Amino acid sequence: MSAKLLEGKKGIIFGALNSDSIAWKVAEKANHHGAEFVLTNAPIAMRMGEIDRLAQETGSEVIPADATKEEDLKNLLEKATGKFGKLDFILHSIGMSVNVRKGKAYTDLNYDWSQKGWDVSALSFHKVMQTAWKMDAMNKWGSIVALTYMAAQRTFPDYNDMADNKAYLESIARSFGYHWGVRNKVRVNTISQSPTMTTAGSGVKGFDGFMSFAEKMSPLGNASADECANYTITLFSDLTRKVTMQNLFHDGGFSNMGVSDMVMAQYTNNVQEE
Ligand SMILES: NC(=O)c1ccc[n+]([C@@H]2O[C@H](COP(=O)([O-])OP(=O)(O)OC[C@H]3O[C@@H](n4cnc5c(N)ncnc54)[C@H](O)[C@@H]3O)[C@@H](O)[C@H]2O)c1
Repeated sequence: MSAKLLEGKKGIIFGALNSDSIAWKVAEKANHHGAEFVLTNAPIAMRMGEIDRLAQETGSEVIPADATKEEDLKNLLEKATGKFGKLDFILHSIGMSVNVRKGKAYTDLNYDWSQKGWDVSALSFHKVMQTAWKMDAMNKWGSIVALTYMAAQRTFPDYNDMADNKAYLESIARSFGYHWGVRNKVRVNTISQSPTMTTAGSGVKGFDGFMSFAEKMSPLGNASADECANYTITLFSDLTRKVTMQNLFHDGGFSNMGVSDMVMAQYTNNVQEE
């Protein structure tokens, strides 16, 4: 792909933990498409030091910020706008459920953990946008994207309280998307991505099964992290200026399927074997 879709654009990318991360792939592709950006992650995630490799590769600065802490976000936005002026894009690629991590069932939630997970996975999106809003940090026709999963609409039992967090996250995109649109034509969308083998993804119980089921159900197959990054670049580009307040499925068709021949064949075989 030769056209540079993000030439001259500046932004912030949250959530690159390691080379499997969706945000990592977005950073590489944004760099390829001519964007400049700041990389950020929670201070605790910096310990592995992998993000420094990405920073070097993409010529970016790393500014740590816990996305649940308003003072961290203010510092991040001040530094990023001090460096670039107003921003053209922000990627929120953040998710974590303590209940999922610790194997607590949805019917036996620890509510302190639920609140923590909600703060990190959902409310942080509002915090990022409110901080940028108050600082008037976005350029006209800017683009803000967060990543989500279809468990916000349909039930996947082992996705646990993350399903509720994603529903809340998607609602924030619509609610804040209205205000951004009216004030300075900034668009806000969520991308609902296929199951993807990353640190966050593989923390979900039975994730392998999840992935192969989705693969068999989707006429185009599962979307990879790389493909998700390509889609994100289009949403940051000027080619999608009138797309806002949407939850956009990037899942090879999975979300509109009832059943596929491949899944049906497996089911039928099993029934015959019994
Ligand atoms: N992997 C999947 O199957 C899948 C599917 C659909 C959507 N998503 C979503 O994609 C996004 C990115 O996840 P990923 O799959 O690349 O996994 P990942 O584990 O690489 O990324 C999650 C990131 O969230 C960051 N994070 C956690 N707490 C934070 C905090 N307090 N402040 C700032 N950052 C914090 C982590 O450090 C990490 O970089 C998440 O929103 C996830 O829910 C993932």
